[in-house]
Amino acid sequence: MKNCLIPLLASGAAAFPFVANQAGVDSSLLQAARLNKRQQTGEGAGGPSTCPFNANHVAAAPVTSQYPYNNAKNGLPGNGKGGFQVPATGDTAHQFVAPGPNDIRGPCPGLNTAANHNFLAHDGITTFNELVDAQQNVYNVGYDLATLLAALGLTLTDGDLVTEKLSIGCDATTRTSASAGLTGSEPGLDGHNKFEADSSLTRNDFYTHGGDDFTFNGTLFGYMQNTCQGNFSRENLSKYRAQRYAQSQVENSNFYFGPLSALLYGAASFLYQLMPSGTHGYTPDLPTISSFFGAHQQSDGSWTFGNDEKIPANWTNRVTPYTNIDVTREIVLMYLENPVLFGGNTGSGSFDAINFGAIKNGTISSSINAKDTSCFLYQLATQSVPSYLNGVITPTVDALTFLGQKLAPSYKNLGCPQALTK
Ligand code: HEM
Ligand SMILES: *[C@@H]1O[C@H](CO)[C@@H](O)[C@H](O)[C@H]1NC(C)=O
Ligand SMILES: *[C@@H]1O[C@H](CO)[C@@H](O)[C@H](O)[C@H]1NC(C)=O
Ligand SMILES: *[C@@H]1O[C@H](CO)[C@@H](O)[C@H](O)[C@H]1NC(C)=O
Ligand SMILES: *[C@@H]1O[C@H](CO)[C@@H](O)[C@H](O)[C@H]1NC(C)=O
Ligand SMILES: *[C@@H]1O[C@H](CO)[C@@H](O)[C@H](O)[C@H]1NC(C)=O
Repeated sequence: MKNCLIPLLASGAAAFPFVANQAGVDSSLLQAARLNKRQQTGEGAGGPSTCPFNANHVAAAPVTSQYPYNNAKNGLPGNGKGGFQVPATGDTAHQFVAPGPNDIRGPCPGLNTAANHNFLAHDGITTFNELVDAQQNVYNVGYDLATLLAALGLTLTDGDLVTEKLSIGCDATTRTSASAGLTGSEPGLDGHNKFEADSSLTRNDFYTHGGDDFTFNGTLFGYMQNTCQGNFSRENLSKYRAQRYAQSQVENSNFYFGPLSALLYGAASFLYQLMPSGTHGYTPDLPTISSFFGAHQQSDGSWTFGNDEKIPANWTNRVTPYTNIDVTREIVLMYLENPVLFGGNTGSGSFDAINFGAIKNGTISSSINAKDTSCFLYQLATQSVPSYLNGVITPTVDALTFLGQKLAPSYKNLGCPQALTK
């Protein structure tokens, strides 16, 4: 327990001061921990020493006039009209190519799949613009949500705000950072208690599995399928999310389910909002979902990973863009069907609830208003977020400036409180 506390104390803030006051916590280590932005030891699962290195980085294959998809390029808004096939027949540049040993993949099946189809750089070192373009061209994510998710990815998981590069998996600081000496480590999407969090659909909790919070786990995929029975709907996924929460609460003494964990409901909504195919009546069925997860059922019923997170054959994407308002609505509805407490296991047997924005005393109220709902993700990006037991992530001035440039126009229109950078 003592060893686990040190990284948890990284930012030294006082959301859970009783932890900092516990005997045996050596405060002289806090400064050192603060410098290590991974919130975990530098080596081990997801760390730089085991992170693949591809010396021959090739950027994503751009959309062309022959195969325009949503015509989203250079991080700008595309057509926002879906219902088309991806990849288009004949578009060899975007056919599936399995990741090789030098390619980085991580906890997000949506981005892993996009990289396997070269909508993101195949080596997994991507950019803000590639992320914004790919989400629109492949999944018809709305421009507002595409920019928000990409910005959250870069700022929360310490992608690089100068190069605008991000690893979709492990720590590849030597390739993402403009100057590793100045920026410190940039853990990529594997970095824990940022975007990645406990009680994921198919990924282990960080502390119960030696830091491996990103590898596909077939047992968990099987649990999800047992609950959903081939219908990965909001109702069934809400049930499954509550089951995973209960599992983490029992098994993980460091279980933390903070405001950023609300993003997990958003990710779960992608199964029935972004992955279904027009050629399957837009139903979130097992053949479709298992293809995006690279999941294969064996004759004994178990599920294994085929290293082939793939767009299913003859797949056509959703017709209308999936926007910020759509996803926040799904987050709230999925949560309210099986509400759980936001907060964390303290390690001494109790669970402490937190407050943040629409989360009051650890719960989102069913009377949440439309503005609090639509501003919630923006607040996660721009405010100080309690992000692990006794700590908060406070966006730096650089991050707020970056977010202001990328997001302000959409979110100003919603009347969300604008972050101050001066
Ligand atoms: C820039 C955009 C995106 C970023 C930065 C991002 C990042 C992430 C991260 C860090 C996780 C891990 C969360 C956890 O701990 O469970 C995650 C999970 C997930 N993402 Fe994404 N994501 C993005 C877009 C997408 C899109 C467009 C899709 C869908 C097609 C998608 C589908 C999913 C799913 C289904 C999960 C849950 C996986 C699981 O729990 O097993 N994501 N994403
Ligand atoms: C997969 O998940 C199950 C259930 O949580 C867990 O017991 C098992 O250790 C995990 N397997 C691996 C290889 O991480
Ligand atoms: C949920 O899964 C059940 C099987 O457990 C399935 O029959 C049903 O269609 C799904 N129901 C909902 C409400 O999603
Ligand atoms: C899946 O569940 C949804 C939501 O409850 C329901 O409307 C739909 O009919 C179900 N689909 C199948 C194929 O059972
Ligand atoms: C895809 O469509 C083609 C042409 O209509 C058809 O021959 C093929 O069986 C389909 N494949 C799948 C997996 O649906
Ligand atoms: C939160 O809990 C405190 C203490 O129990 C109580 O005074 C307060 O009214 C609660 N707030 C809400 C919004 O439920």
